[in-house]
Amino acid sequence: MSAPRSMLVTGATGRLGPASVRALLERGDRLLLTGRNEARLAELAESTAAFGGPGEAAVLVADTTRPDGAQHAAAEAASRFGGLDGLVHLVGSFSVGPLMLTDVSSYEDLLRANFLSAVVATQAVLPHLTEGGKLVYFGTPLADEPLAAMSSYAASKAALITWMRSMAHEVKNRGIHANAISLTLVETPEMRKEMPHVDPALTVDAELVARAVRFLTGEDSDGMYGSVIPVVGKFGFSSALAGGPPPGAGRPSR
Ligand SMILES: NC(=O)c1ccc[n+]([C@@H]2O[C@H](COP(=O)([O-])OP(=O)(O)OC[C@H]3O[C@@H](n4cnc5c(N)ncnc54)[C@H](OP(=O)(O)O)[C@@H]3O)[C@@H](O)[C@H]2O)c1
Repeated sequence: MSAPRSMLVTGATGRLGPASVRALLERGDRLLLTGRNEARLAELAESTAAFGGPGEAAVLVADTTRPDGAQHAAAEAASRFGGLDGLVHLVGSFSVGPLMLTDVSSYEDLLRANFLSAVVATQAVLPHLTEGGKLVYFGTPLADEPLAAMSSYAASKAALITWMRSMAHEVKNRGIHANAISLTLVETPEMRKEMPHVDPALTVDAELVARAVRFLTGEDSDGMYGSVIPVVGKFGFSSALAGGPPPGAGRPSR
């Protein structure tokens, strides 16, 4: 396992937070976990304390989608750890709906949560990042293969990934690595409750995503700048846009 890091984890109160945090604590990382919801942050603090592990995690209530909140969180992490080695930006949101039934404010909300939040958090951490620093974001294959009625989500994640790839070129000469993980449907307790009909074999275990987070924040990924790693499991998007299966597909051969 690579050397322990000191990092800011934004949006740690979400579904992927617990598994990602555990994977980083196993490496011995020192983490500052942020979220806006005090109760969920307290729960996360309790579960990470119970996990133990060689690392340590502190929590901070902050809205890191706002410049003042993000700057406060980054400064707090840097002063607590004597510098900052990375950002894991878990903040994100999801909604679907056909164009004519989707108010423009829903588009603005998703752009803010999925794209602009990353800009704000990154601007806040960059001044504190040490050489070899790691920035990790979360995308979706829908950004490249968008399905009907998912235009706001797909466009907001496409903006995130295009921005990340451009920014990665800007910061690489400072030895900073920006990369992303592309996800389909992650198996979490919340997902299981909301979508009991989904075949578990088609979802991605949160632990596997967490391992990719640990990889992208460790020195094993030192050669990577602006990459998008797919951790998509066996989930398959099907779409009329893709033209459906080829003729004869799925029929037994004679
Ligand atoms: N889970 C999946 O299946 C999946 C699939 C594809 C991509 N992803 C992406 O992977 C990342 C992590 O996923 P996740 O499932 O952990 O996400 P999540 O549970 O939906 O949300 C993560 C956190 O984002 C924060 N957040 C959401 N909207 C916000 C807003 N408008 N302003 C500020 N904070 C906001 C919330 O923190 P507060 O406590 O502050 O509200 C929430 O805890 C996200 O970017 C997500 O889009 C996830």
